[in-house]
Amino acid sequence: MDRIDKILSNLGHGTRKEVKALLKKKKVEVDGVIATDSAMKVDPEKAVIKVSGDEINYRKYIYLVMNKPSGVVSATVDRNDETVIDLIDEQYRAFKPFPIGRLDKDTVGLLLITNDGELNHKLIAPKNHVDKVYYAEINKFIDASDINTFKKGVVIDDGYKCMPAELEVLTANENGSEVMVTIQEGKFHQVKRMFESVNKNVMFLRRVSFGPLKLDEDLVEGQCRELSEDEINLLKQV
Ligand code: URA
Repeated sequence: MDRIDKILSNLGHGTRKEVKALLKKKKVEVDGVIATDSAMKVDPEKAVIKVSGDEINYRKYIYLVMNKPSGVVSATVDRNDETVIDLIDEQYRAFKPFPIGRLDKDTVGLLLITNDGELNHKLIAPKNHVDKVYYAEINKFIDASDINTFKKGVVIDDGYKCMPAELEVLTANENGSEVMVTIQEGKFHQVKRMFESVNKNVMFLRRVSFGPLKLDEDLVEGQCRELSEDEINLLKQV
């Protein structure tokens, strides 16, 4: 049981003060009865709550997938840059979500955003070996020895030996290569550092999948959508 003003405020219906005004204006209905007391205790899982006649969709957690654009940081707040949370709709921001893992400021693609701490923990734990697939453009020719080095585990600049990674070459010539790389970890700048350790540079990086989820082709950069129940369950099974 929670106060009705807290429930509605948490769901993005305004500040506590604004919700109080809604209640005063008799815009809120709980189980068919107009509610005016902001301290009224309600079980949001059971009660039918309506605001201005529309039934609210109560949930504790939200799960979003964003096609992250370049130039924004994967954080909840930042002093200098726009964050992925700044890009999402106020109705979702009210849930105080955060990104699952990080993509660099110049990396684009699939980023999960939620307020479910348990799922976050599970998905970023290295022991769970969640595959992350990236499309990358590289400044040089990628050859069989690079594929082999990635397969054996690249040793990056700080001496850390990465877990085996799969490198698939899509195109390759003297001007550069397009590749797909699959890793199971999420170290800082990991993909860029892996290529640097074979003397190559990542010119462009897009995450195209995370565990069982693939980046939607029609999700424009900067936009996000809610995950379906099935997608959430797939992630929980990881
Ligand atoms: N590896 C990187 O180098 N950068 C990213 O954003 C993600 C993986």
